[in-house]
Amino acid sequence: MTALAALVLLPPAASAAEAPEVAKTVCAACHGVDGNSVAPTFPKLAGLQAEYLEKQMREFLTGKRKSEIMDASLPALKSADLPALASYYASQKPAAGSVSDEKLAAAGKAIFDDGNTASGVPACSGCHLAAAQGNERYPRLAGQHATYTVAQVQAFKAGTRSNDKARVMRAVAARMTEEEIAAVAEYIAGL
Ligand code: HEC
Ligand code: HEC
Repeated sequence: MTALAALVLLPPAASAAEAPEVAKTVCAACHGVDGNSVAPTFPKLAGLQAEYLEKQMREFLTGKRKSEIMDASLPALKSADLPALASYYASQKPAAGSVSDEKLAAAGKAIFDDGNTASGVPACSGCHLAAAQGNERYPRLAGQHATYTVAQVQAFKAGTRSNDKARVMRAVAARMTEEEIAAVAEYIAGL
């Protein structure tokens, strides 16, 4: 093969961001090398905002956010370059999610877009944006595993996840029924 042909075959620069060592050796086991985890209990990190990812990593380290499953990775996380790790995952392309129950997802769309006026659940889109893509203040939710999303909203509701500033997510989740949580998570998974 000529040198020119070899060059042409190289992947485009955008997808060539090299994974930090810790991402390949430690985090990949659960989150996938490119942050697209396959297991529904492990969150996808690909495409989430760097600000949000770094905040979560710091809060696992300080114990402000707790997870027994993440515990074993904390020593590795402690010595890692957090901004580099966060921007690596943020720059990865999120894998498309999927919906397994169309009817449930349709019910979820109504809550996501408009909330529930009767019980005071606000529209998720008001903060996470219309396609759940998020911004530097509110995390991307689109395409996330429904199992993970359900677990997090339940954790906010129960108060076992309490690292949301100004109790915003705890106040939202407290007003939601189990049915609404399942429906909105199903809708989000397909975005
Ligand atoms: C044994 C599996 C496992 C390993 C290894 C692991 N994680 Fe996690 N990670 C999880 C689970 C499970 C959660 C969800 C925790 C919860 O329930 O709040 C999580 C959550 C996260 C979150 C928050 C995601 C979000 O959407 O809020 C970040 C960021 C994260 N992990 C980064 C890392 C990094 C960086 C490493 C490597 C140093 C790592 N994880 C290693 C299982 C793992
Ligand atoms: C007033 C703004 C606001 C509204 C409305 C809102 N959220 Fe959030 N949400 C946030 C913020 C801020 C965070 C990040 C909390 C943190 O820093 O850990 C968050 C985090 C989350 C997370 C955790 C993401 C992850 O990767 O772990 C989920 C899931 C979530 N929101 C779901 C929802 C759903 C579903 C709705 C609608 C019923 C909703 N949110 C409405 C502000 C909002």
